[in-house]
Amino acid sequence: MEKTFGIIKPNAVQKNLIGKILTLIEESGLKVVEARMETLTKPQAEGFYAEHKERPFFGSLVNFMTSGPVLLFVLEGNNAVENYRKLMGATDPAKAAPGTIRKLYADSLEANSVHGSDSTASAAREVAYFFGDK
Ligand code: CMP
Repeated sequence: MEKTFGIIKPNAVQKNLIGKILTLIEESGLKVVEARMETLTKPQAEGFYAEHKERPFFGSLVNFMTSGPVLLFVLEGNNAVENYRKLMGATDPAKAAPGTIRKLYADSLEANSVHGSDSTASAAREVAYFFGDK
């Protein structure tokens, strides 16, 4: 069993898409083993996305990710990292495959509705970042 980390981003929470997105995740066979809803602070979002801090979109991304509540969660399952990434689809919704979460529910490249860890190493860091206090 492998774990991965995900976020339902502010645009999707605002549009009442939590249920639809979690349904897709659960129907794919992944299990939600931790979840917490909160509005991220700027330092929390900056730390989480630290690897992107030199990218031109960093400031806008941090503003967007702190613009409203998000759902933080941990998933468990076989090949959870890869399977959840496939279910999300490409980062850019214009390139996402039909039936993927981002194809169905993203509003833009930035407001792409969901985040997911991109490797098992990222998953370990990201799970610890938000759920490491227990
Ligand atoms: P996420 O998977 O959370 O990882 C980084 C986020 O930055 C990405 O989803 C998008 O929300 C956002 N983003 C904005 N512009 C870009 C870009 N050009 N390339 C990658 N990510 C971008």
